[in-house]
Amino acid sequence: MEILAFGVQADEKPLIEKAFEGRHEVRCLDVFLTEDTAPIASGYELVSTSVNCALGNRVLQTLAAGGTQLVAQRSTGFNNIDLEVAERLGMTVARVSSYSPYSVAEFAWTLGMAVNRRIVRAANRTRDFDFRLEGLMGRDMHGRTAGVVGTGKIGEAFTRIAHGFGMKLLGWDVAENPACVALGMEYVSKEHLLAESDLVTLHVPLMPETQHLIDAEALRLMKDDAILVNSSRGGLLDSRALVAALREGRFTGVGLDVYEAEAGLFFLDKSLETVEDDTLARLVTFPNVLVTSHQAYYTREAVGQIVDATAANVLDYTEGRRSQNVLVPRS
Ligand SMILES: NC(=O)c1ccc[n+]([C@@H]2O[C@H](COP(=O)([O-])OP(=O)(O)OC[C@H]3O[C@@H](n4cnc5c(N)ncnc54)[C@H](O)[C@@H]3O)[C@@H](O)[C@H]2O)c1
Repeated sequence: MEILAFGVQADEKPLIEKAFEGRHEVRCLDVFLTEDTAPIASGYELVSTSVNCALGNRVLQTLAAGGTQLVAQRSTGFNNIDLEVAERLGMTVARVSSYSPYSVAEFAWTLGMAVNRRIVRAANRTRDFDFRLEGLMGRDMHGRTAGVVGTGKIGEAFTRIAHGFGMKLLGWDVAENPACVALGMEYVSKEHLLAESDLVTLHVPLMPETQHLIDAEALRLMKDDAILVNSSRGGLLDSRALVAALREGRFTGVGLDVYEAEAGLFFLDKSLETVEDDTLARLVTFPNVLVTSHQAYYTREAVGQIVDATAANVLDYTEGRRSQNVLVPRS
């Protein structure tokens, strides 16, 4: 059976082909699954998708009408898929429930330290033979407080690194993680965490309860010189409220790997077009903001594990097995 994979990055394609070798043929498309591209899936029982594919009602209806039975999402997050509609249409939906949490945790630290130590500005200067230090002063992380919002797999990996820096550890989650407690993490209210942390990092999933978890009020609670990192999902953070706070000159730095309106922008070359999103356009102009395009997971290890798990999910489906990766089981 041939699988149709949407949103495949060039580096990812050989890994996908290898993972499915000897099992299934794969047709890899670089386009994302949207209302416009959904008709391509007609006749494909098996479809694989990535984070910036939009599987709302109409797309799922089109897939179902074309005979698609399985959606194998190549990520942990699945906020881009309407699971209720998929279930109603009798489709199976699977995701990759875990892969290297180090990929995202290490990247969150990369963003946090890059804004702290002004790495982009420094690199731009030395390229121009400007070797001044003015404006490049950062802060030691040792002895400061890290606030980890969401202490699951990625939050825990982030916490281990923060512990290595010698930081005080605050956590907020619906459930305490014993491994974080063992590292000395104190679980506190969200308000306490925001008010006390020098670095706040987001690692909860995006769901209705966490939409705009960091809104104007939450930003107001944070220290004026805090560092904020979001490498989870853009919708956790009210980006307009963030722009307003940054305009007031607040925060040492903000590192964003995700953006609430990233679909249709991230992973694509928009350099020759006029970007119409004024909030994003403003965000990238702040000297203390660093935006990357959802690349935190993008390591050889993590992508390898994602495609291997996706191939296993497809095999489980075709052989009628049920696994912990299944979000909507076969009806
Ligand atoms: N930028 C990237 O490339 C990238 C890659 C992978 C994952 N992510 C994001 O990171 C998130 C976390 O991944 P993970 O593997 O650590 O997941 P996980 O399930 O191990 O951890 C999530 C944590 O959030 C907590 N949580 C859930 N709902 C909550 C709520 N309403 N309030 C407070 N806490 C809540 C859970 O208890 C859990 O401890 C994913 O959901 C995904 O959105 C981003």
